[in-house]
Amino acid sequence: MAEAEETRQPSLHVAIIMDGNGRWAQKRGKPRLFGHHAGARRVSEILEACPDLGVKYLTIFAFSTENWKRTQAEVAGLMSLFRRYIEKEARKLFKRGVRVRFIGDRVRLDEKLVSLMDDLELLTAENDLVHLTIALNYGSRDEVARATKRLAEDVAAGRLRPQDVDVETLPHYLDTCVLPDPDLVIRTSGEARISNFLLWQSAYAEYEFVDTLWPDFSAGEFVEVVNRFHLRERRYGAVTG
Ligand code: FPP
Repeated sequence: MAEAEETRQPSLHVAIIMDGNGRWAQKRGKPRLFGHHAGARRVSEILEACPDLGVKYLTIFAFSTENWKRTQAEVAGLMSLFRRYIEKEARKLFKRGVRVRFIGDRVRLDEKLVSLMDDLELLTAENDLVHLTIALNYGSRDEVARATKRLAEDVAAGRLRPQDVDVETLPHYLDTCVLPDPDLVIRTSGEARISNFLLWQSAYAEYEFVDTLWPDFSAGEFVEVVNRFHLRERRYGAVTG
């Protein structure tokens, strides 16, 4: 057995910044939302590939705290797409053993969407094959600010002592508190930046920036990227060899 295979973890966490939907649509002379719909179909395909690859946690960046700056039509179209995606996919996700969670601030999302999100989390709460986390109205800085606020409330109420605040304590206040840190972060569309995504959690993640636009990112390419990840040596700041 190759060395890379021997060291494979059975429960990888892969996080994806799904970028390039707009350009993909524009190249075809279509509106940007056409690209987002094609992007949504990719999510299902990538999710299906996870169990065989040992990817137990898949976290996807669907809408950032900065995406509200887009046109009202695009924002409304995306929100409608998220509602329809949940309505359409809920049973399938449940039957496939997928546990779905949402991270991000729900306060600004519309009631109907939040209620669908709650229902889907509840429906899939007992599943354990793949844990799909959808980041919706998510931004890392916003998450850390919200976490710090709750932490400060606990200190003020005497539930937490300031001297007990450390790198083990803070993650308990993050939206991702029940998830392991990502092992691999993938960004599509040729952009090499992390855009406020899982900043704390990805301190020791490996990064892969691929040129493919998200709606073209196939399960085959996903397998290739994960296989490349397995060949990397992760040292977490230590010296090996
Ligand atoms: C970035 O591409 C993509 C988004 C802001 C939205 C991501 C949403 C989806 C893939 C829809 C499906 C998600 C779910 C959970 C069903 P962009 O619009 O910034 O592309 P561009 O950089 O080419 O303009």
